[in-house]
Amino acid sequence: MVKDIVSKLTFGQKARLLTYYELLDTVEDKEAGIPKIVMADGPHGVRPLRGTPKHIKGGSTAFPTASALSATWNLDMAYKTGAGIARDCLAQGVDVILGPGTNIKRSPLCGRNFEYFSEDPVLSGEISAAYIRGVEDQGVGTSLKHFALNNQETARTLINVEVDERTLREIYLKPFEIAVKKGKPATVMAAYNKALGTYCSQNKKLFDILRNEWNYEGAIISDWTAVRDVPAAFAAGLNLQMPTNKKIEEDLKRGIEEGVITQEQIDKDVEKFLEFVFALHHAPKCEEEFSREGQHEDAYEVACEAITLLKNENNILPVTKEKYRKIYVLGGWAEKPQIMGGGSSIVFTKDEMIDSPLCEIRKAAGDDMEVIYDKCYSEPDYANLGATTITARAAVKDCTDDDLVVCFVSSVCAETEGLDRYHIHFENYIDEIIRVISIKCKNVVVVMQTGTCYVPYRWDKKAGAIVQMWLSGEAGGKAIADVLFGKVNPSGKLAETFPTRLRDDMEHIGLGDSITYKEKLEVGYRYYDRHTDQIWYPFGHGLSYTSFAYTGLEAKTTGDHVSLRFDITNTGDVAGKEVAQIYIGKKESAFDRPVKELKAFTKVEIAPGETKAVSVEIPLSDLACYDVAGSEWTVEKGEYQVFVGASAQDIRLSDNLYVK
Ligand code: BGC
Repeated sequence: MVKDIVSKLTFGQKARLLTYYELLDTVEDKEAGIPKIVMADGPHGVRPLRGTPKHIKGGSTAFPTASALSATWNLDMAYKTGAGIARDCLAQGVDVILGPGTNIKRSPLCGRNFEYFSEDPVLSGEISAAYIRGVEDQGVGTSLKHFALNNQETARTLINVEVDERTLREIYLKPFEIAVKKGKPATVMAAYNKALGTYCSQNKKLFDILRNEWNYEGAIISDWTAVRDVPAAFAAGLNLQMPTNKKIEEDLKRGIEEGVITQEQIDKDVEKFLEFVFALHHAPKCEEEFSREGQHEDAYEVACEAITLLKNENNILPVTKEKYRKIYVLGGWAEKPQIMGGGSSIVFTKDEMIDSPLCEIRKAAGDDMEVIYDKCYSEPDYANLGATTITARAAVKDCTDDDLVVCFVSSVCAETEGLDRYHIHFENYIDEIIRVISIKCKNVVVVMQTGTCYVPYRWDKKAGAIVQMWLSGEAGGKAIADVLFGKVNPSGKLAETFPTRLRDDMEHIGLGDSITYKEKLEVGYRYYDRHTDQIWYPFGHGLSYTSFAYTGLEAKTTGDHVSLRFDITNTGDVAGKEVAQIYIGKKESAFDRPVKELKAFTKVEIAPGETKAVSVEIPLSDLACYDVAGSEWTVEKGEYQVFVGASAQDIRLSDNLYVK
């Protein structure tokens, strides 16, 4: 059918289909029976578009950002987020949501890390695939972005990334491969940057991997204005140039004349584009009635599972009336939380939908405890830094050892598309204020509303508890109150290492024309496993109000799988959820390998005293390394080491495994 339509189109009609008509819609060709498709950002909620129905009270739902979502380590939460966003899309007439962002967090400095899932390819890929299924099962399309090697924002439209073939495959393409194969996104978005010397929007090598090796059948679209050479992009296999190219007909004619592209290739590109348009246009749409309150509830559940308890000395948390007389809540972010990062992912939710942590803390405390709020710091006020510190001291002047102080800190817009961070610290004034407070007060909890790692100066040893709240969307305020008061037992775990300092053995952000990823496979915990002195909190770390014991690991290969089983017992007195992480290493190997690599994970809910048996199956093919000489994935024979951990640095069980 699509071929038929294409055969009847004029060259001009075909060319016009290959670009956006306006900023938001693809071209509608009524004469040829081609409907238009509406796209919207993404990825943590729908960014309102021209024509957004005004009747949606509450605006779009703001879900926790990607880095929070991956901290849930829960594919059901990723699916729930995708399905929720799809419902918002359907209510607003949107056919494709521009997300998820699946690039690896190579450096903590990348400004878009809050929009990306993890430093690990398997975790990124699995969460991404579940999110995509959540969206697409409702009849809405996704755009898996930014393909590929878009790991910094500085000079993102110019920079060339050089990386060796094995690292490219095993670290940077792997999450896309998993997401494409398991998620089947309607579109993949080619990134701005160059990869191995060629702009991603015209990168035949990348497109061939996508099409020929991963059998990707959807449409390849460009990031906004990312196409530099129109004929080269369509010759490589692009299917849609974003946003508008008014001269596309001219450009393609020139391409044909110069022998860069053929008419047949243009037809193929149009066919693929039309397949995508028709697939989405006819996709069964979710029947479910749209409930804005229901959406909020979903965002709350995800936020609850994302919140990550980094430290909890002497069980300073959860808050109970037996433990504390008064609660001091400090910092403007308690009242007005930082719920998302900056750039194209901003979601215009309505103020009335945003839960304030302060209000929720007041509700949770009820008549049992007095809650004293002091804004005392929020935005940086350099001229009055001394005064701010004095205000902070004054805010807690009556605080006693029977009271609790909860300080909310954030990053003041340091996390945004288009910019990278210069360092991994809070603003100095924040560190100084928390230090002053923690000298005066015995029980201090610091809640970090950030989308990625921030390393404190001078207060982390003094604070009794540190809670990573993430940029947790519109319902994060209630989620954090419920975690602080123990109504929700925290179960988030870090999807990225929190280091003590910026490692100095790699170029974090390329400032010239090109950057080479000389650290190769040593990204995230693959590096910190050999440099444990530089870890503040390791990959996979997150505490609970209960404790878990791991026992009885049995690991064996059966057929084309590795089968593992072990038991986890909840040894505490409250119910909780534990994320068990399965890492595999190989000491004797022809390949230069990291100590261990995440191959699977599972999250289990366990009642106090209960033991749950966990079974995990890992396809043997997941143990493969990319053999550059043979251009193929190879599973080495011999002995492997299996590690089951509560984090990358908290390995509870290990065993050897033989692959014949
Ligand atoms: C961003 C994409 C986004 C697009 C449309 C680009 O600048 O890199 O992630 O989807 O704009 O807003």
